[in-house]
Order: sequence, then C-alpha cells, then structure tokens
Amino acid sequence: MLAQSSLHPRDFVAPLFVRSGDNLRTPVPSMPGVFQFSPDTAVTELKRLEALGVSAYILFGVTDPARKDAIGSHAHDRFNAVCRTLARAKDGGVKMLSITDLCYCEYTSHGHCGPLVPGVSPPTVDNDATIERLGQQAVLHAQHGADIVAPSGMMDNMVTAIRAALDADNRPNTAILSYAVKYASAFYGPFRDAAESPPQAGDRKTYQMDFRRDCRGGAKEAVREALLDVDQGADMIMVKPGLAYLDILQQVTAAVPVPTAAYHVSGEYAMLKAAAANNWIDEKATVLETMHAFKRAGASFILTYYAAQLAEWLA
Ligand code: PBG
Repeated sequence: MLAQSSLHPRDFVAPLFVRSGDNLRTPVPSMPGVFQFSPDTAVTELKRLEALGVSAYILFGVTDPARKDAIGSHAHDRFNAVCRTLARAKDGGVKMLSITDLCYCEYTSHGHCGPLVPGVSPPTVDNDATIERLGQQAVLHAQHGADIVAPSGMMDNMVTAIRAALDADNRPNTAILSYAVKYASAFYGPFRDAAESPPQAGDRKTYQMDFRRDCRGGAKEAVREALLDVDQGADMIMVKPGLAYLDILQQVTAAVPVPTAAYHVSGEYAMLKAAAANNWIDEKATVLETMHAFKRAGASFILTYYAAQLAEWLA
C-alpha cells in the first residue's frame, strides 16, 4: 500500500546492436544475453520485445571495418544496418517506438564521435562540422521510420542543428532525446566491444563530462547541460551512466521541464551478469531494486539491456 515506486514493461527501452548481413545473432562476450543482429534477426527480436510490452527500442549501428573512414560516411548510407532495420521493422508491422542513436563513433576509423580537427593532439572532434552532419543523419533516420533520434556525442549545439534539419525536411514530429548529461565513463567499456567503437587514440574527455565536478553546491554543470539542450528543443533528455550518477539524475529531473531518462549502461549490466553467473547475487532481486532506484531518483524511463528480462519478470 505504501510502496510509491512501481515498475512496468513500458518503463524500459531496449538497446539493439545491428550490423549488415543476414541471419546474424553474434553474442557480445562482455555482455551475456546481448547480441549483434542483422536487420532480419533484429526484427524477430523486436517482435519479441513488443509482445513483452517493452515501449521502445534504440538502435546502434555496428560498421564493418572496411566501411569505416575518417568522417564516418557509412552513417549516411541509406542501405546501412540502422536504416534497413528501421524499414524492415515498419514493413514487418512492428509498432513499438523506434529510437536511433545519432553519433559517429560507430562509423569512424578513429572511433571518435565526429570528424577530427586536422593536426591537433589529443584527437579533438570538429564540433561544428559534426553537428551539421548529425542533422543530415537525423533526417536519414527519420525518413526510414525513426520516431525519436537520440544524439549521444555531447557536441555543443547539436540539438539546435538537428531540430533545424528535421524541420527543414518537414518533420516537426520527429522527437529528440538528447544525451544531455553524459560523463566520460569507464562504465561504457563493454558497449565499445559490442559496437566495435573504442577510440583508437586519446579519449572522449574533450566532449564528455568530467565526473569530478559538481560535488559542492549541487549539480550545476549537469543542470546547465540539461537546460541548454531543453532550450535548443530537446523533447526528452538523458543522464548517463546510471547507478553511480543517481545524485545527478535526481537534481536534473528536479530542474528540467521535460521527461528525463536514465541509461543503465553496458558496464553496469556486465557487472550484474558476472556476479549473477557466480551466484554471488540474486539477479532478479538486484536488478529490480536497481530499477526502483532509478524511478525513485526521478527517471521517466530507463534504457537497459535488461529490458526483455525485466518485462518477463514483471509479467
Ligand atoms: C556513442 C555511445 C556510447 C554509449 C551510448 N552511445 C559509447 C561512448 O560514448 O563511448 C554507451 C552505452 C553503454 O555503455 O551501454 N557515443
């Protein structure tokens, strides 16, 4: 009677890794239960998620090394795995909300989140060249059926550029879920295996946030990042990673007028799976408790590799 947080399958967004090919279901070693799918097998998985009542999915494109280049051209190929999965899902009658991750690290040979400024060390992404290209990538995804685009590169003014590009293509109803508050985190390690996207040199600290800040006087930098994106037209924002950043999530949700998501990231998933495999924790109880903590901190919805399993547990 007095429990105030509750969980429902619609609280969860399922991340999916897709790559070109047919009939692929390649396990990601550091993320047991997570696979790289080809567009055909991805649609089968989406139908399973939809039947379980999961609200939405988010697609990450994995690129064959031969198709990578310095500017991430393959992100703009209308036959890439993300576009083909979106189209096949529509054709296959999948009605779940579709979200696409908008970034370049999965498409560039150097693994950074956009084209680099020439001759600069450490590697530094060319912010303004990247946001213009992000607008084009957003339009491409929307044309193939993305309901929501989710820029994850932490470029300045990325939401303004994407909104302008979508509106210019007469797509006012394509929504933007901005990764507005994203820290340069070691918890993304397994994701970079799954997406085959680790930076080849340097790190992401020139664009992602420093987790040592905001420790006195409240989450001022995080709130500022969030409000900048809201002002630019973000319909929803995200805080990332999850469990180690609940203080940030709580302060951001209290400060912004749009729904805020939490991303329970790859490293958090890997740790739970490893402990569960050793029978060191009760997996179901621990995962449910984690999700309640996100809700308690104010999350409107949660991106998690546990989405399908959670929906099964909650059924
Ligand atoms: C791409 C991106 C990353 C994640 C989501 N989008 C990796 C990164 O920033 O290095 C991480 C998700 C996860 O760890 O589950 N920029």
